Amino acid sequence: MKTFGCIGCGNMGSAILGGLNSQEDITLIGYDPSGNVPCTACDSNIELAKQADFILLAVKPDYVESVLKDIQPALTKDKVIISIAAGVSMETLTKYSSGKCPVVRCMPNTPAMVGEGIFAFCFEDPSLTEEQQTAVHTMFEQLGQVMVLPESKFNAFTAIAGCGPAYVLYFIEAVAEAAVSVGFHRKEATEMAINLFKGTTKLADESDHHISVLREMVCSPGGVTIAAVNHMDRTAIRGNIIDSIFKAHDRGIEMSK
Ligand SMILES: NC(=O)c1ccc[n+]([C@@H]2O[C@H](COP(=O)([O-])OP(=O)(O)OC[C@H]3O[C@@H](n4cnc5c(N)ncnc54)[C@H](OP(=O)(O)O)[C@@H]3O)[C@@H](O)[C@H]2O)c1
Repeated sequence: MKTFGCIGCGNMGSAILGGLNSQEDITLIGYDPSGNVPCTACDSNIELAKQADFILLAVKPDYVESVLKDIQPALTKDKVIISIAAGVSMETLTKYSSGKCPVVRCMPNTPAMVGEGIFAFCFEDPSLTEEQQTAVHTMFEQLGQVMVLPESKFNAFTAIAGCGPAYVLYFIEAVAEAAVSVGFHRKEATEMAINLFKGTTKLADESDHHISVLREMVCSPGGVTIAAVNHMDRTAIRGNIIDSIFKAHDRGIEMSK
């Protein structure tokens, strides 16, 4: 039986605890100053760190230093710190935990809140054992897709999958606006737009055809869809989407300096 402790049970911490809740070989504990914890609550971060084998740091990045300094006396090589704090490097995590236990950097995205997240993991700490790495990988697989990446790829991952939910929601909003414009009620329009994305991603996921082939299948010769797709090509929608993601990537690199 492993004990998984979550420090900071806000949006992301609670979502991860919720996703791990069904795993029978894990005991879940948490600490949050509000006392709002969706599992067994500890009285303090240090109490949690003493009990937990895996310590999830799910506080805002500004609190990482003080929390790690607080729990340092309880850290040993048998424990693992998993930090989801955006932009906080492996070097910083190791520094504030004084190298007393292995650290893992993780970047989730918001669909993790409904069990469909994409998680990037950096397992580059040399003190992390194979067994600890496998345990982390296995636990998070239940919450969505797990990608093991070098830390140097975290900015790229963030620009695609971390920021990605905002891009997809932006497209859904645009379709809903168009639906309202051609006469659907707002509620109908929003439902239609969401189901359009849900159904299409399921099709893309489950079909044997490549996504480009699936798109071509909707575009009948001389038909209505090709008229829309031609307009998208003429107005460089695809190029603008790519450039927008480059902007996010550039900003991530700038912020990590
Ligand atoms: N949400 C996302 O989409 C997302 C995506 C990727 C990564 N992340 C990362 O996930 C982390 C958490 O984000 P979030 O959106 O879940 O934030 P959040 O909802 O604000 O949750 C953070 C929680 O930590 C609590 N807290 C503050 N100080 C603490 C302390 N000393 N010890 C224990 N708990 C403490 C906060 O309590 P109070 O509210 O009372 O201060 C709050 O309940 C951040 O580092 C963020 O960069 C988030």
